[in-house]
Amino acid sequence: MANKKSRKVDIIGELSRGFTQRTVPEGYMDDPVARRAYGDYFGEVGFEKGAALSREIRNRRPPGFSGRGRLSMVDLGTGTGEFVRGLSEGLLPDIPDGIDLLCVDRSLSALQEFSGQWARPEGISLRLVPALLPEASDLLRIAGPVDVLSMANLLAENEDRLSGFLELLKGFLERLSPGGLMILVEPADRRSSRSLLGLGDRLLDLFPDLRILAPCPNDRRGPCPSLASPDGWCHEDRPAAFSRSLTQTASSLGHIKDSLKMTYLILSRGEKGVGESEECALRLVSPLHKEKGMSWGVFCGGTTLFRLRLKNRNRNEVTRAFVHLRRGETIRNPGLFSSEDEATEGAFSDWPSEIPLTGLFRPDGTPFDISGKED
Ligand SMILES: C[S@@+](CC[C@H](N)C(=O)[O-])C[C@H]1O[C@@H](n2cnc3c(N)ncnc32)[C@H](O)[C@@H]1O
Repeated sequence: MANKKSRKVDIIGELSRGFTQRTVPEGYMDDPVARRAYGDYFGEVGFEKGAALSREIRNRRPPGFSGRGRLSMVDLGTGTGEFVRGLSEGLLPDIPDGIDLLCVDRSLSALQEFSGQWARPEGISLRLVPALLPEASDLLRIAGPVDVLSMANLLAENEDRLSGFLELLKGFLERLSPGGLMILVEPADRRSSRSLLGLGDRLLDLFPDLRILAPCPNDRRGPCPSLASPDGWCHEDRPAAFSRSLTQTASSLGHIKDSLKMTYLILSRGEKGVGESEECALRLVSPLHKEKGMSWGVFCGGTTLFRLRLKNRNRNEVTRAFVHLRRGETIRNPGLFSSEDEATEGAFSDWPSEIPLTGLFRPDGTPFDISGKED
């Protein structure tokens, strides 16, 4: 029993290294032992990511998304299925007519096992399409009109096929219904993040009505500012609780699993929502650093990164919430920071002592009442 367990941990370790170093063998999902190890470990995290993004979509209420009939959803690179299960089950309560889900993967055995094991809610129907992407020429026809396209952790295994994936996603965006969503997720490492954000920029170039619903603030339409520097990247890091067995496996591998780390984009072809902010949001995209005499972080305004600092001597009743900000929280730009203040190495813009902080959104899209952030 102990041997079996440690064998599984070894396999998880091998898979993990393979994902990071891009050396994972193409057929790993066809191997029942590797597939089970993937499902037990990465699957649990994937489920939480899918569920978190479904909550975020429901919180952000994308214009034109709700109120439609039965939802047509396509998931690319489904694998053992936990991510799309978290996403579709999480969206279902807002979709009374139910969801038609089509799952695509090069591994037929992974798809079949997922289908056999999923205690699917009544409102969700499932179709499986084994296909090697991105060349699946018939896929767009089989899928028909699409309301939600999701793709999680697929690009990292297909770095040599990125232009093909761009074409495939372009094809899906052309078929995306008005108000429909594209949800793209990759690991939180520099290489995966840059590749996803770069792909997002190319899609924005191709579709003038495409907008980033999350995580970027202010309806970003231009190039991602994190990509402006050769080392830049951006990722999410939200607190999350995992099972004891997962955290034990993680710690025996030297991993830390106490949060959801991912790079993601939720893209929408819908209209801008009524009352949405105009260039006024600043999202904290780094940890908040506390150093001698100050707290600081990198904030994204959608087109520009700002390195904002609150000096301890400027900390008072109206500004002190600054020191409690967490990655992913969005505050109002009081109009003081503009593209001329762009973050350059080591250069700070100061949050003045007399300007109160106003919270806009928490990372999951819920309204952010900053008055709760007291010392
Ligand atoms: C890392 S897993 C991700 C599974 C799931 N989306 C998740 O996030 O947990 C990647 C999946 O994509 C599949 N895959 C990788 N490259 C593919 C390709 N070119 N065409 C079809 N499926 C592919 C693999 O078989 C595997 O099931």
